[in-house]
Amino acid sequence: MKIVSLQSAVAYGHVGNSAALLPLQRLGHEVWPVDTVQFSNHPGYGVFDGMRFPAAHLIAMVEGLAAVGALDQCDGLLTGYLGEAATVEAAVLAAGLIRSRRPDALYLCDPVMGDAPRGLYVDPALPEAFRTRLLPLADIVTPNRFELECLTGRAVGDLADAAAAARSLLAGPDRRGPRLALVTGLEDGRDGLIVLAVTAERIWQVRTPRLPFSPEPSGTGDLLAALLLGRLLSGYAVPEALDLAVSGLFAVLERTWVERRRELALVAAQDAMIAPSRRFAADPVEP
Ligand code: ATP
Ligand code: PLP
Ligand code: MG
Ligand code: NA
Ligand code: MG
Repeated sequence: MKIVSLQSAVAYGHVGNSAALLPLQRLGHEVWPVDTVQFSNHPGYGVFDGMRFPAAHLIAMVEGLAAVGALDQCDGLLTGYLGEAATVEAAVLAAGLIRSRRPDALYLCDPVMGDAPRGLYVDPALPEAFRTRLLPLADIVTPNRFELECLTGRAVGDLADAAAAARSLLAGPDRRGPRLALVTGLEDGRDGLIVLAVTAERIWQVRTPRLPFSPEPSGTGDLLAALLLGRLLSGYAVPEALDLAVSGLFAVLERTWVERRRELALVAAQDAMIAPSRRFAADPVEP
């Protein structure tokens, strides 16, 4: 399958496209990355350099992909760190052009905006732009708990809150909007982490142990989004795709933990990432 991936890139480390490219390629997909920023490293280090690409450049990149015929063959769109509201228009354009040629192409929108306790780390106009411009075009949305609160305006305390808030993001009777919402980074109170997957009909949860990182490695959400889209495009149904994505991510995190690395051990653990031996099943949750 062929995928356009619009998100950040770093030279050193693995976030954004620098986390998504290898897993999608290892799953056998062709990826066309369009970088929204090119930084030396993730801003979490305190020092970093590089630049954000203006919306006009990103729109030109999307138009270039259309002109060369790439979008005619495109099966999937992945968007992540956009940084500012103006950049959203490049994603809207990409989604529109891909869908005009391939109405059944799959669009996963990771609404990268912030995290607790750090808060919002993007343009304050971005939450509204995600809500009004991008979510109506997306098939899948993958907020962390902070981003879910930000998108819905609801406080998300427990799993029931998360499920209800996630469901409110799904397409209504007009059928515009995501069919699947994944909520990441939920705490289970017993030293575990839960990912919740919510559709109109069903809810699944996947629980893994929490590895005691300090600081937390960056790019976990970006890697999970890439693995999920990659597995869905390979033809897996939601619960299997979710199990494989979370289990693949955990394999990378475990290697990262054992080797006491600050950045995801994506390259070192790539075989385990695509064929994880320790599996975390997606369990149906009673609504
Ligand atoms: P990012 O930091 O890339 O923006 P995010 O905030 O979007 O990530 P998180 O919810 O923080 O996403 O992480 C995504 C998933 O990664 C979690 O749901 C969990 O499955 C896994 N994960 C993250 N941190 C840990 C950890 N310390 N131990 C085990 N799994 C983790
Ligand atoms: N800033 C940029 C440029 C990013 O690409 C990302 C993640 O993709 C973030 C911030 C979010 O970082 P964190 O993983 O610490 O939540
Ligand atoms: Mg997080
Ligand atoms: Na996420
Ligand atoms: Mg994220």
